[in-house]
Amino acid sequence: MKTTINKLSECVGQEAELSGWVYHSRHSGKVAFIVLRDGTGLCQCVIEKGKVADDVFEQLIRLGQESSLVIAGVVRAEPRSPGGYELAVTAAQIICPTQDYPITPKEHGTEFLMKNRHLHLRSQRPWCIGRIRHTVIDAIRRFFNDNGFTLVDTPIFTAAAGEGEQTLFEVDYFGKPMFLSQTGQLYLECAAMSFGKVYCFGPTFRAEKSKTRRHLTEFWMVEPEVAYIDLAGLLELAENFVSGIVRRVLKDNRAELEALGADIATLEKIAPPFYRLTYTEAAQILTSERTVKFMAGQLETFKMQKTAIEKQIGDIEAAEKAGGLKQWQKDKNTKLLIDLRAELAELEIKIENNPRHAQLAAEFKWGKDLGGSDETIISLMHDKPVFVTHYPRAAKAFYMKTDRGNRKVVENFDLLASQGFGEIIGGSVREDDYQSLLDRIGEEGYKPEDYAWYLDLRKYGSVPHGGFGLGVERTVAWITGERHIRQCIAFPRMMDNVCI
Ligand code: 4AD
Ligand code: MG
Repeated sequence: MKTTINKLSECVGQEAELSGWVYHSRHSGKVAFIVLRDGTGLCQCVIEKGKVADDVFEQLIRLGQESSLVIAGVVRAEPRSPGGYELAVTAAQIICPTQDYPITPKEHGTEFLMKNRHLHLRSQRPWCIGRIRHTVIDAIRRFFNDNGFTLVDTPIFTAAAGEGEQTLFEVDYFGKPMFLSQTGQLYLECAAMSFGKVYCFGPTFRAEKSKTRRHLTEFWMVEPEVAYIDLAGLLELAENFVSGIVRRVLKDNRAELEALGADIATLEKIAPPFYRLTYTEAAQILTSERTVKFMAGQLETFKMQKTAIEKQIGDIEAAEKAGGLKQWQKDKNTKLLIDLRAELAELEIKIENNPRHAQLAAEFKWGKDLGGSDETIISLMHDKPVFVTHYPRAAKAFYMKTDRGNRKVVENFDLLASQGFGEIIGGSVREDDYQSLLDRIGEEGYKPEDYAWYLDLRKYGSVPHGGFGLGVERTVAWITGERHIRQCIAFPRMMDNVCI
């Protein structure tokens, strides 16, 4: 019976046929082990000499990594096989034998892997992340569809800036300048006046001259927009939404989270209510004695972790040198060393950055937008995501509603994910008063005529309304514990690298 690895539990004791690729293999004279991957999981296939035709056995033991084949055998439960089942092989058909696959289990640099993204996508880490991304996107659509939102697809060619002119990508539209969409929000506001609750979900473009791990030039953003909502209502919507996404991933992708080494215990705590801080409170925390102590404590911890990892690496290297290890032990050590060295490199970056980030926090001045390191500090101090609300008006986009109780700030929020990850959502109540919005457009130096239709919404049946945008890659990076968001989209686009 043709089946897939994720369905093997249904065929124990029966004959099953799998179609896939060699993930890795080893053999002794009489028995060969092929770990097969088929897109749904990994399965160990055991080939005993004498149980398959001799020429098939000879061909199988010569197959290199990523050779493709169809393989059949009897399914049995085997806790030591990657997915819990193994195949006692009776027959195999080789589709494309392969040698010298460029991505081996040894360590490869990021640049090499990005250049080989077409092949790297088959490796375990990108595969696990891709599966989780799929769940996140499905959970996003379900959440809005199940909660009375109407999907509205907003355009990618836009005539004016939605999120600041510095990050616009200009394109030649039949001789006239147009821009790639930075946000669907302004169009969504129109649609919210028609449907009440709407969302858009699509690729978003920002000419970010920033090479940080949190910035792509093309990313996916989902944006809900709601008529008759206030800031408290938006925060509640956002915390239910994010908690729902995390719950779905915990339910559907536990194995992938485990394989990635994600912090499952912290994810399990993600439930409403999230923490709520105003920007002014966040600024006070950053410049307080508490932050000085916190940063010093972090530095100590990082240094201790570094020493422990260095010792582990030293021990493994000594065992390797001493010799006498079995092949499987050597394979295990190779994998372990790759992980440990990656962890070490990460810790070294953290140790190097710590003093600079501590200083930036200490020197934080009210009025500035929170920087990446400031967000990291605030989010590390909390075990659940944190809303930071009421930012200074001058630091934020023109459409955000001025707080009528304190005109220096706007009714907005950023959601900082836990574990030091930083912002995954930005949102606000929108300025719904015609004259106030016109003034803000003027202050930014934008042309009111470019925003005529947007201003019209404030003329005809204007209502309090608001919404937010969640970045898919940042959310996936946070949930999976992946450091750089470039790993959270199949073919990333960054300022200095567009992979393939
Ligand atoms: O905070 P941002 O810029 O907000 C907006 O675009 C609003 N118009 C959304 C709204 O209110 N409807 O972006 C929202 C989110 C960020 O929190 C982040 O997760 C993601 O989009 N994001 C990026 N992700 C990857 N690379 C970039 N360059 C990103 N810029 C924003
Ligand atoms: Mg933002």
